[in-house]
Amino acid sequence: MSEQYLLEMNEIVKSFPGVKALKGVTLKIRPGEIHGLVGENGAGKSTLMKCLMGIYKPDNGTILFNGKEIKNYSVRDAMNYGIAMIQQELSPVYHRSIMSNIFLGNEPKTNLGFIDWNRMKVESLEWLKKVDVEEDPTREMHELTIAKMRMVEVARALASDAKLLIMDEPTSALTTKEVKQLFTTMRKIKEMGNSIVFITHRLDEIFEVCDQITVFRDGESVGYVKPTEIDQNGLIQLMVGREIKNLYPKTECTKGEVALKVENLSMGHSFKDVSFEVRHGEILGVAGLVGAGRTEVIETIFGLHKKSSGKIFIEGKEVEINSSSDAFDNGMALLTEERRKDGIFPILDIRFNTTVANLKHYIRKSNLINHQAITADTKEYIKKLDVKTPSDKQLIQFLSGGNQQKVLISRLLLTEPKIIFLDEPTRGIDVGAKSEIHRLINDLAHQGISVVMVSSELPEIMGMSDRIMVMHEGKVTGILENKDINQSVIMEYASGIRDDFVPAETERVNA
Ligand SMILES: Nc1ncnc2c1ncn2[C@@H]1O[C@H](COP(=O)(O)OP(=O)(O)OP(=O)(O)O)[C@@H](O)[C@H]1O
Ligand SMILES: [Mg+2]
Repeated sequence: MSEQYLLEMNEIVKSFPGVKALKGVTLKIRPGEIHGLVGENGAGKSTLMKCLMGIYKPDNGTILFNGKEIKNYSVRDAMNYGIAMIQQELSPVYHRSIMSNIFLGNEPKTNLGFIDWNRMKVESLEWLKKVDVEEDPTREMHELTIAKMRMVEVARALASDAKLLIMDEPTSALTTKEVKQLFTTMRKIKEMGNSIVFITHRLDEIFEVCDQITVFRDGESVGYVKPTEIDQNGLIQLMVGREIKNLYPKTECTKGEVALKVENLSMGHSFKDVSFEVRHGEILGVAGLVGAGRTEVIETIFGLHKKSSGKIFIEGKEVEINSSSDAFDNGMALLTEERRKDGIFPILDIRFNTTVANLKHYIRKSNLINHQAITADTKEYIKKLDVKTPSDKQLIQFLSGGNQQKVLISRLLLTEPKIIFLDEPTRGIDVGAKSEIHRLINDLAHQGISVVMVSSELPEIMGMSDRIMVMHEGKVTGILENKDINQSVIMEYASGIRDDFVPAETERVNA
């Protein structure tokens, strides 16, 4: 054997009803290597990793781990071999403590065979330190931010002594700083001689941290390259089989009257005195670090949280919005950050998931549902956003992560809103579809719709916004014209170094 691999997956085939997800793919991982796995939404990345984890049984192909063939194994066996996975959609046990999550199924025991809670707490602290999380290990998981939950999952993998760690889009919910921290941890894992399979749609991350790259396209492996042998454009070409000309197709458009005005909006400890306005046809980007309160602000405007004070005006008229249906009646629409939790109806089909927000529209005078119209609209958006699916009747839970997101965006667009809030709209979306979604956002602005877009990807914020509102720890630190500024200026506002925001002038009661 010329080279010793830690893992060799050869000619793996896996079909689902109506879909050949893997058509004979190959993946080879060396010991002590960070291996990037890239490909468009639905290319088969998660499916292959689930085959490796023993979650799916491949129809064909061989898997060698440490030179030995392994087959017909369960998730538990995979863990015993030393393979651990952090899944694309987080799967922590929310109502249990951090330390229970770290040692799930692997709890340290006392001599008498009971769970050794003390040791668990002490060791948890050590693992948390390795991933730079400062939290009390007895806190419940659901109290943590997404970023911290990811880190706890990394800690869990470390604690299980994994030789191979699979990370399926671990960075998609993290901000730049947290990504850097994760990379530091990944490099530590590599220095211990362990390997990582790293899946991401952010190609710059691949170049920053990977030693080797495998590219998938439509269930086939089409590339095995080193980051030094290829550049981003080359990688995109391999992934999508064509050139992506313009990732940020923003064009100038005429702005109308102010559509939404927010005045000194506050909500508990989350944020205070947020004021801004958005015109018809304008895209307002909202930048900041995780925890800055961006999601809370748009969710409060949308009626999902109760504001503690402040005013909201739509087209000059003050409105009271106490629920999402009030928001909806006022012409607002929201794409939430956590699609798995808040957005999809997993056991229902794409047709329902696409049209659910707009069902009224499909009821005929006779009170019968116009199924043809539902099918036609669903098919139109499947085509528009290039959703990978065998049919419009597929259950949404069987779509790849990125394709589920596309269905949610379709749903939003079908409601024909006046003001649209997008929370991380292209998280987990591949480059091809990303440029498509950006093109749609730009079209919305041209139709006179106001767009408020929260994004942790600065290139996206800068590439798509007319103005940028930056938040830091629950406060607006600046609202900037998107001209002559660069990433580092935004970061200065985001970290609170710069702050030149003047709250709206209303009678202010000083506490
Ligand atoms: N349990 C399942 N039942 C039916 N089809 C499935 C199932 N799991 C995956 N698929 C299909 O297999 C294909 C590959 O999906 P997979 O989730 O592996 O893609 P991916 O490369 O991880 O994409 P993404 O970047 O969007 O996460 C898709 O067409 C998907 O719809
Ligand atoms: Mg996936």
